[in-house]
Amino acid sequence: MPESGHVADPDAVARLEGVTVRYGATTALRDIDLTIERGEILGVVGESGAGKSTMLNLLDAVEHPTSGRVLIGGVDPEPLGERGRRLLRHRIGMIFQSFNLLANRTVRQNIALPLKLQAKKDAALVDSLLAYVGLTERGDAFPARLSGGQRQRVAIARALVTRPELLLCDEPTSALDNRTAADILDLLARTRRDFGTTIVLVTHELPAVAAVCDRAAVLERGVLKDILPVTNRPERTDDASYLDHVRRVLGA
Ligand SMILES: Nc1ncnc2c1ncn2[C@@H]1O[C@H](COP(=O)(O)OP(=O)(O)O)[C@@H](O)[C@H]1O
Ligand SMILES: [Mg+2]
Repeated sequence: MPESGHVADPDAVARLEGVTVRYGATTALRDIDLTIERGEILGVVGESGAGKSTMLNLLDAVEHPTSGRVLIGGVDPEPLGERGRRLLRHRIGMIFQSFNLLANRTVRQNIALPLKLQAKKDAALVDSLLAYVGLTERGDAFPARLSGGQRQRVAIARALVTRPELLLCDEPTSALDNRTAADILDLLARTRRDFGTTIVLVTHELPAVAAVCDRAAVLERGVLKDILPVTNRPERTDDASYLDHVRRVLGA
């Protein structure tokens, strides 16, 4: 076990203790021990089917361990019931590969949605997040009129509107081109810096992990094989044009 011998960190944002998740005959996660440290950006890498999304869903208290225990802010969500888990989820934001915006709501309404679900309203906060993600001009647009990168920015603003201490990201750049992906990763790094948000970045894209993560948990068919420090932080290469980018990558 990668973390055996560690003294439990009482300040950890979340923790999995000997967690196994089974779906019938499939073991999605097997006896996972993992601590999410406050303020870190933790990468979770693995091939398709490795159990990455299952792990995020555990950390969001929407998935249940078959055995073992999940702690979110020191709290075990299992005995809480649906209402208690919903309250616990107020501390957590989540973004997805497919953005998951509401098509029939404007950008501003999408960002305000988590507040609305908590019977809250804060137009100034919504506007400040709109500005934070660089979309002040697009507040009244509908998602269909935005690029993929802009949609993910809206999703990030929506996730941040409740000021979560933990931001869970499930393949957030996998539907984006390289340059747009780099912009989104920059925004995640900035989010950690400006708000102190702890971030878990699930991805199969190793360059994304190298760009922003402090550590990487490596999942192979449901087994946590290792947790590696990220020491190879590549310089961001901003080619002047897409053609320059193609030339550099192809060596042409
Ligand atoms: N709700 C579910 N019902 C049955 N099997 C599931 C369910 N969710 C995930 N699995 C299975 O669990 C394994 C891990 O899935 P997942 O966590 O989605 O992997 P990843 O996100 O790394 O691609 C896969 O074999 C997948 O088919
Ligand atoms: Mg997945």
